[in-house]
Amino acid sequence: MTILVTGGAGYIGSHAVRQLRAEGRDVVVLDSLERGDRDALLGAPFVQGDISDSSLVAEVCREHGVDSVIHFAAYKSVGESMTDPAKYWRNNVQGTVDLLEGMLAADVRRIVFSSSAAVYGNPDSLPIREDAPLRTENVYAETKAVMERVIHWYGQTHGVRWASLRYFNAAGASSDGVLGENWDMSTNLLPLVMKAALGASGPVKVFGDDYPTPDGTGVRDYIHVEDLAIAHSKAIEHLDAGRESITLNLGTGRGVSVMEIIRATENTLGRAVPYQVVDRRLGDPATVYADSRLANSVLDWRAKKGLLEIVDSLIRRYNEHREQHESTES
Ligand SMILES: NC(=O)c1ccc[n+]([C@@H]2O[C@H](COP(=O)([O-])OP(=O)(O)OC[C@H]3O[C@@H](n4cnc5c(N)ncnc54)[C@H](O)[C@@H]3O)[C@@H](O)[C@H]2O)c1
Repeated sequence: MTILVTGGAGYIGSHAVRQLRAEGRDVVVLDSLERGDRDALLGAPFVQGDISDSSLVAEVCREHGVDSVIHFAAYKSVGESMTDPAKYWRNNVQGTVDLLEGMLAADVRRIVFSSSAAVYGNPDSLPIREDAPLRTENVYAETKAVMERVIHWYGQTHGVRWASLRYFNAAGASSDGVLGENWDMSTNLLPLVMKAALGASGPVKVFGDDYPTPDGTGVRDYIHVEDLAIAHSKAIEHLDAGRESITLNLGTGRGVSVMEIIRATENTLGRAVPYQVVDRRLGDPATVYADSRLANSVLDWRAKKGLLEIVDSLIRRYNEHREQHESTES
């Protein structure tokens, strides 16, 4: 009863691997390490390789007695997906087909998939429910929507059972500061705010302060990465119990503005966050937040952490690494 975790050396995957192992589950990680960190595996069983290698996937499944897969491995940069779309169709979409073929060769028919709230684009109504229309606005989002359909059709043609989890904005680090996002590679708002606050970059850019929101800045649903990790374990339980395939939003159900994040960071750190208001970005919705009631009722899951826990965990992670760095130097 082992879970194959693709992309388990990445930001969200490494938190999920840690959560699953803490619950006593057996895992094996398959990651190319192209955008992941081997240290983030914290000693979990690991195979370096690509999901597009179906034979390797089948071999890993057989050797480790895999019975379900959590599929994080993908590229996730919206900007890069628009400048180099072929890379995204190949890695995200074709990679998922290859992964599924490898799973089937080893008779593995359960998959939890990392989808994204990006599939909704600019929503008609809030909070966003799972049955809202999909309006992808970039290649990355479209690959996620297509990957969902590919998995759905493997359900129809080959009896694969699946849970597609549409994450809203993943944020934060592990509460003990051990794991966290690589700030050098991230274009997410929280790391950018932290870097600006700590003087590691120039002012953080605020894209528009004239949206129809309480303070004029964009509103999103930031979900703590440890809450996300727990949801994956519950999704595996759902499939293990033989229950039906399902698409679920994972968010807090609460919208937080860019300025609220800046203020919360300032209050916690006790210093100003330099920022600069610039023009809106094309296609950015004013407000996005989830209706997560379905995940609550189906998985008995709800996000427990909010903005303060997210900011606190990032500061703890920063301090943890700064101390490690200083002790190596001395
Ligand atoms: N971070 C977010 O806010 C967010 C929101 C919605 C959805 N997602 C999705 O969640 C998943 C994980 O996101 P993340 O933030 O942890 O990303 P990440 O880039 O930190 O992790 C992805 C991991 O997958 C690996 N990988 C990529 N392509 C691979 C391949 N072909 N074969 C093997 N390994 C491969 C990378 O090396 C990396 O370790 C992605 O599918 C992403 O699209 C993320």
